[in-house]
Amino acid sequence: MQVKELAARVQPELVELRRYFHQHPEPSFEEVNTGKRIAAELEKLGISVERKAKTGVVGTLKGGKPGRTVALRADIDALSIQEETGLPFASENKGFMHACGHDAHITCLLGAAKILAQLKDEIPGTVKFIFQPAEEIAHGAKLMVEEGAMEGVDGIFGMHVWGDLPAGKVCVDAGPRMASADMFTITVEGKGGHGSAPHQGVDAVVVAAAIVMNLQTIVSREFSPLEPVVVHVGKVVAGDRFNIIASRALMEGANRCFNPEIRRKLPEIVRRVAENTAATFRATAQVEYHFGCPPTINDGELAAIAQGAVKKLYGEEGLAPMPLLTGSEDFPFYQEKAPGAFAFLGVCNPAKGTCWPQHHSHYTIDEDALQVGAAVYAQFALDFLAAK
Ligand code: NI
Repeated sequence: MQVKELAARVQPELVELRRYFHQHPEPSFEEVNTGKRIAAELEKLGISVERKAKTGVVGTLKGGKPGRTVALRADIDALSIQEETGLPFASENKGFMHACGHDAHITCLLGAAKILAQLKDEIPGTVKFIFQPAEEIAHGAKLMVEEGAMEGVDGIFGMHVWGDLPAGKVCVDAGPRMASADMFTITVEGKGGHGSAPHQGVDAVVVAAAIVMNLQTIVSREFSPLEPVVVHVGKVVAGDRFNIIASRALMEGANRCFNPEIRRKLPEIVRRVAENTAATFRATAQVEYHFGCPPTINDGELAAIAQGAVKKLYGEEGLAPMPLLTGSEDFPFYQEKAPGAFAFLGVCNPAKGTCWPQHHSHYTIDEDALQVGAAVYAQFALDFLAAK
């Protein structure tokens, strides 16, 4: 029996699983019961299980034939959002919700495990099922990799459900797909004094305002207009009172881009602009830069295998285009160890009211897409292992 038929056969179980996980969301690194249930489901299939990254799970299925190793990845954490869907299986964990569809990711990957376990004897190699905690705080993938989840892996495939994409359609184009996200803080030191005598002080509020404005010229004047870059200051804290000159300002911001070369240059540019702007006004600025997630860039060969898998399952119409996303993922940490491709699975069906932005309190999915996700994971694994 082929993957598509096996996926259709497990679909009722997938709906049940998705509703279970949806009803019991757990936040980053606290996915204790989620992890236990995933491990139990894998063990039922005869898949060996290791626990990693506190609450993560790695299942290993050795095929009947020798070959390479492919990893399939799902993230498993929920968000601190109060659910407002009114669904009969809405969150029972007050204040937490699977509002990014990670409940669907768990389910699709368990579905792939159910499919591949039945095809075990035919599989030329090994399939690793990586259920990763704490994607929402961008720590889970890194820790999974540090704890050896990628050892011996030759290629990795991940997937995210997406509320803008028609239900059941898949987009897995080659090249950049999601942006990097890196954080910075700037501390401006001026000199306090009475608000009536500005010449006696160095106003950190004015300096911070000038830095915010000058940082905007990084995007417009330092990089090609054909390269998308976001420089964003999201927090400025300064001053105590209307008639006191602020002696210090604290700023927090984030940079996003799709080009690793630009990403490497940004810390130095932010530092130059902040320090020299501050110096213009007799103040000082100290910049701390923290690299978060790299951009998600799909390997050309793996993206082609994934697109081929979708076409094999659902024909050309199984694929749909989708623009680049300036949001980010921690999936690239796996790609530092092996080539990878990251797909988007559509869950939007206007007739079922499932077209919501990610992280929305009404977020839900067209459950018919679950079998598609499971099938694509499984078919990718088979085609990757068959490729060499
Ligand atoms: Ni997500």
